[in-house]
Parts: sequence; structure tokens; C-alpha cells
Amino acid sequence: MTESSNQSGRTVHIRTYGCQMNVRDSEAIGALLVRHGYRLEKNEADADVVLVNTCSVRGKAEDKALGKLRLVVADKVTRPGRKVGAAGCMVQRLGATILKKVKGLDFAAGTHRLSALPAMIDAVYAGRGPLVDTGELEQEAESLTGHPDGTLSAFVNILLGCDRHCAYCIVPAVRGREWSRPAENVLAEVQALAAQGCREITLLGQSVISYGLKNQVWPDGYHSPKEFLEPLPRLLEAVSAVPGVRRIRFTSGHPSGCTAELARAMAEVPGVCDHLHLPVQSGSDAVLKRMRRGYTAEDYLGAVRRLRKAVPTLALTSDVIVGFPGESEADFDATRRLMDEAAFDNAFIFKYSPREGTPAAAWVDDVTDEDKARRNRVLLEDQDRRGQALNEATIGREVSVLVEGPSLRNKERWAGRSSTNKIVIFDPSESVHVGDIVTVCIGRVGPQVLYGTLKGKSYS
Ligand code: SAH
Ligand code: SF4
Ligand code: F3S
Repeated sequence: MTESSNQSGRTVHIRTYGCQMNVRDSEAIGALLVRHGYRLEKNEADADVVLVNTCSVRGKAEDKALGKLRLVVADKVTRPGRKVGAAGCMVQRLGATILKKVKGLDFAAGTHRLSALPAMIDAVYAGRGPLVDTGELEQEAESLTGHPDGTLSAFVNILLGCDRHCAYCIVPAVRGREWSRPAENVLAEVQALAAQGCREITLLGQSVISYGLKNQVWPDGYHSPKEFLEPLPRLLEAVSAVPGVRRIRFTSGHPSGCTAELARAMAEVPGVCDHLHLPVQSGSDAVLKRMRRGYTAEDYLGAVRRLRKAVPTLALTSDVIVGFPGESEADFDATRRLMDEAAFDNAFIFKYSPREGTPAAAWVDDVTDEDKARRNRVLLEDQDRRGQALNEATIGREVSVLVEGPSLRNKERWAGRSSTNKIVIFDPSESVHVGDIVTVCIGRVGPQVLYGTLKGKSYS
């Protein structure tokens, strides 16, 4: 179906920076442009239109997107007819000043104007550029949806925006107010995905466990078969009941939402994976307070204990910021201790980056670059050791793996992911296909990968 005037069969290449929400947005933009007659082009050099979906979360993330945009714009001289655009969080933050930062940019659409992209690109080809549209950020009633054909594993938005306003974070300013999509819209999207062969659904929200807390998502009188009362456990149960869905993940977590009922849902709802990304940011109560995270280290560890009691095999991953204003060596040591106690399977460590307009940006960025770099390195080394030890503990165990396809490194072997979200490599067998769930016995491990042999198949 062609909904617009793109009869020329123009091709578009989309480059994505940032979080899973941006990956999802890029897929939805791609699907939208395909509905408007475009073809997606994997190879940037061959594309008529290059679109960069941007992230603002740290200074470095913006520098990367700006650098990329400047390179692609400079390359326009060798490619007559090419148009270059930007989308997403950095566009939302910078507005029209993005045209000053990237001279020669043709168009830019903010986080709430992605659906305007086909018309914008048409207008640019009709000679009406450059165009910038950041629209209203107040509240998004629905998200633009759409996925590539043949998706085995898909991201589905359930909570848009963020109202937490952590002191360091730009996301609320570029993603707008928190809004939970009605469960029936989420389920319709999941049903359509599953009918096309999608087997794994990851429900997305910046603080996904706030789903349904601010606006109603379930109809009055809705009864959950397992008698869940909270909105997210109900949604996990309903997604699990969609025929074809075999695995469900949700991200990112927040300790305030790790309730007894969520723990029960993770243990009892078929297909909910044994993994949660639960960003802690710091292990020091003083720093957590200044960050406005809304919990103490003990609250966080209490949430971890609650979940692990219900799901003993749970893998936890986390985000940590080092060098937040005022972070002392003692604060940093508290973070090291908490990370050990929480036994994270993996952690992303970020050096604090002041973001203009956030409360923390007004405080002195007093931890030196050297100290930030050292703390970053120490936490990464700790995490490598911890991750390796946790992986070693899986040797001899059987894990369930969703088969994704041949391993990138060695096409003779197969790759998939465990329920705990680790990459698992195993020898192929004629009877195994992409999308199967198989049992693999782990024989050896690396810091990021488990290797094993096929034991059997639970689903095909
Ligand atoms: N909504 C998610 C996080 C989104 S941003 C959550 O709260 O769980 C992803 C990560 O980037 C955050 O968890 C945090 O660790 C990091 N981050 C955000 N703002 C940052 C900043 N100003 N400087 C450094 N790291 C930052
Ligand atoms: Fe940012 Fe905090 Fe919202 Fe996460 S929860 S997006 S860190 S404001
Ligand atoms: Fe994600 Fe970066 Fe935007 S982390 S929400 S793409 S600012």
C-alpha cells in the first residue's frame, strides 16, 4: 500500500544511537516509510535518504550523532539528490539550533513528530527544506507502531515519557510526560507480531514498572485469571496468553515497582524471562538522595531479595553513574559493595555528564576526569570478574535458549539467548530452526558468552 507520492522508489538508510526505545522508534519509522513507498537500504552508501535517530543522554552520545550527521552531510556533494535528516531526542532538545550545529541538514523531527517524517521528506524533495518540527511535548496519547517483517524478537512500547525527573537526566525533557498505553492497544500490537512469527516480546518504558499507575489501562471490571491487581503483572499475564508468544521481557525496572505481586508474576507467568535490568546508579544513600532516585541502597537490596526469593535463577543487570557531583571515595566504595551484594550479571558504567537544564547541571561537576576514569575502570574490572564467576557457576547446567540463527563468529555454530539474556553458542543440529526454544547444557564460558551442547527441544 502506498500512502504518499513517493513513486520514485526512494531508498532510506536509518542509523540509530541511544537506548532500546530509539531502536524501537527507528523500526517504527522504517515501517512507516515502507508504507509510504520507500525501500529500506542497509548500506548507507546506496541510500537516497540518510536518517540519524539521535540520543541526548550524555554529552558523548550527542557528539557521536553530531559527528555522524556532519560526515553524511559533507558527503552530499558526491551524491546528488541525497537528503539527510535527524530524528529523536537530540532534535527535541536542540530544536531549530540543530541547523546551526549541522549546516546542510535537510530535515529534523523530534521524538513526538516521527509520524510527520514521510510528509517532511516529501516537502524537502519538493524544495521546501530545511525543515525542523519538534511539535508539542506535553503528552503523547499513542505511540507510532510498526515493525520490520520477520521479526523474531520485538520491542513494544507500554510506557511513554518519564515523570521521575532524576536530577541528572535529560530524558523527561526530551520524551515528555509519562503515559501508559491502554492494555488493549499493547495486546493488539503483540497479537499482530505473534501472528507474523514473532516469539519474544520486550515491553519498554523508561521506568516500565510504573505502567498503569498514572492513567487507567485496564477496563473497569477486568478480571485477571491469576488474580493480579497491579497493572504490569496483569499485562505480563495477558501477553503470555497470546498464542505464539514464548518469551516476555520488560525494561527498565525501578525498585519501587519490584512488589510481591511482580515477583509472583515473574515466577508464575509462563514465558516471563529470568532477567531484569534494574538500574541502581549508586550504592551511596547520600548520592542516591541527591540523584532523586527515590530509594536507598537498602530499599534496592530489599527489592533484589524479594525478586530472587521468587525467582532464584534471576539474572540482574544494572546501570551505574560514577563521578556524580559530590561523590566521595567512601560513596564510591559503597557502590562497589552494593554491586557485589546485588551480584549483577552485567552492568553498564557511565561517567557523569552534566545535561543542560537538569537540576544537577547547576551543581559543581567536582569529580575530576581522572577520578571518573579510574572509578569507571575499577567498576568494569570488578564486573568482569563477577560476570565471569557467575557464568562459571552455570557450567554443567541446562539452560533454555531461543534460537536466533548462525553465530556471527562461526557460521557452523548456532547462537541464541538464554532466559537470563546471555548469548549461548551451540553446535547445530538438522532439527533446530530459528525461533525454536531448545535446551543447551553449558560446557564452558567466557565473560559474555556461554558455550554448550544441544540436549533437546521444548518448542518448535
Ligand atoms: N530510564 C532508565 C534509564 C535511561 S538512561 C532508568 O532510569 O532506568 C540510561 C542510563 O544512562 C541511566 O540508567 C544512567 O545510568 C545513564 N545516565 C542518564 N543520564 C546520565 C548523565 N547525565 N550522565 C551519565 N549517565 C547518565
Ligand atoms: Fe531518566 Fe530517571 Fe526517568 Fe530513568 S527514571 S529516564 S534515569 S528520569
Ligand atoms: Fe534513549 Fe537517549 Fe533518548 S537513552 S530516551 S535515546 S536520550
